[in-house]
Amino acid sequence: MEKIAFASDHAGYQLKKKLEEYVIAKGYEVEDFGTGSEDSCDYPDYAHPVALAVENGECAFGIAMCGTGNGIQMTLNKHQGIRAALCWEPALATLAKEHNNANFLVLPARFITEDMALKVVDAYLEAKFEGGRHQRRIDKIAVK
Ligand code: RB5
Repeated sequence: MEKIAFASDHAGYQLKKKLEEYVIAKGYEVEDFGTGSEDSCDYPDYAHPVALAVENGECAFGIAMCGTGNGIQMTLNKHQGIRAALCWEPALATLAKEHNNANFLVLPARFITEDMALKVVDAYLEAKFEGGRHQRRIDKIAVK
């Protein structure tokens, strides 16, 4: 089964642990790149290492969160090989995979219920990249 890279700051820590349990129960492997508690921390310290793990193929894709999702998503997307999508409802996660082949699902931990977050994760895991014209567009994202 694929290995999922997880990361959060303190604001996303509790949701991250729930989502890790959820995907482990589905049979995925998990690697947690921190943070490891609810003590205040800086999301880039965890976003950069988790991005590298997906870029170098150590993990198949990632799930990350901070309070709004914005800070960790902004940091992840500084990496040329990362397409991190901030999603707060299932349809966004489905399209992030189908159209953007997002390799990071990002969640706004302080603005989403646990139940909705699980639904968003399911939508992301179940969706398939459609390729075709979407691949052509993705090929134009990276800064050369
Ligand atoms: C932490 O207070 C908060 O700023 C952080 O989790 C995130 O929302 C930043 O984008």
